[in-house]
Amino acid sequence: ASKELRFDNKVVVVTGAGGGLGKAYALFFASRGASVVVNDLGGSFKGEGASSKAADLVVDEIKSAGGKAVANYDSVENGERIIDTAVKAFGTVHILINNAGILRDISFKNMKDADWDLIIKVHVDGSYKCAKAAWPHFRKQKYGRIINTSSAAGLFGSFGQCNYSAAKLALVGFSETLAKEGAKYNIFCNAIAPVAASRMTQTVMPEEVLANLKPDWIVPVVAYLVHDSNQTENGGIFEAGAGHVAKLRWERSKGAVYKTDSTMTPGAILKKWDQITDYSAPSYPDGPADFMDLLEQSKSIGPNGQGPAIDFKDKVVLV
Ligand code: NAI
Repeated sequence: ASKELRFDNKVVVVTGAGGGLGKAYALFFASRGASVVVNDLGGSFKGEGASSKAADLVVDEIKSAGGKAVANYDSVENGERIIDTAVKAFGTVHILINNAGILRDISFKNMKDADWDLIIKVHVDGSYKCAKAAWPHFRKQKYGRIINTSSAAGLFGSFGQCNYSAAKLALVGFSETLAKEGAKYNIFCNAIAPVAASRMTQTVMPEEVLANLKPDWIVPVVAYLVHDSNQTENGGIFEAGAGHVAKLRWERSKGAVYKTDSTMTPGAILKKWDQITDYSAPSYPDGPADFMDLLEQSKSIGPNGQGPAIDFKDKVVLV
């Protein structure tokens, strides 16, 4: 037990901590010595209604086990109030777990603006608002840790979830940038893509499968990422679920370089398409390609060979 990673003297804000993954995080951090703000709006998984009950039950559970916790019932859209709760109760915030979320699954064809807007509001605006309110504290104390909750739906796409996919990938870009801006203030920000059985993923699954998909199997990697023993991972994307933890990254093909003149036509692109899409000599970038390098390369090659003529006859194009 002397080797266990502890969170004594840390103030942790967990959004959407009334159930599912958030509840598991809150119980864990409290059991390891942290002071925890248990935020939950207490609505349905579609984002309807509100109740203080979900957060209160988790706070009660933490307190009766001897831990420190306070409840907050605001929507993450009002992130400043959630951070206020942390500051009033515990003096500051060190760790923010942006976890709250809802679903409005429907095919793109049938999607209403309200389905789109609410998903973006809760996931993207909510994570932004909480991080924005925590940021001045993080900078002042030169310490901050953020986890943003992405999803396989965002990383890979998922039928019937274009609103959720858009929101979840937005959180990856958000994390990557906060990681870059925060680094010099000792603020780390990582994104996770969890898979767990919760009311969100409720289906008829056998007991054995459900046991393997408990939120408890997501908690350890999140806890490690926000613990002081993590001194390297910042701006990463991690998949977790069913006892599997893995890191994801971007992959760039070696690509093709063209002379930048009038011979760089769509036909010339088509001609080198195999090269553009060839992953046999990849790189793993964390920023855009170096265009000064590319300029040098482009200078040293001859005119681009013409590919087949490509025209857009009979197509209506909106630019
Ligand atoms: P859940 O529905 O059990 O928990 C989400 C919690 O967030 C609920 O307690 C809900 O009341 C709360 N919440 C919803 N809107 C809120 C708001 N505006 N303000 C404050 N609290 C709010 O779902 P689960 O599965 O625990 O999801 C947690 C996070 O993980 C979500 O961001 C979800 O999108 C993400 N996720 C979950 C996956 C899974 O397999 N369970 C897969 C990929 C991502």
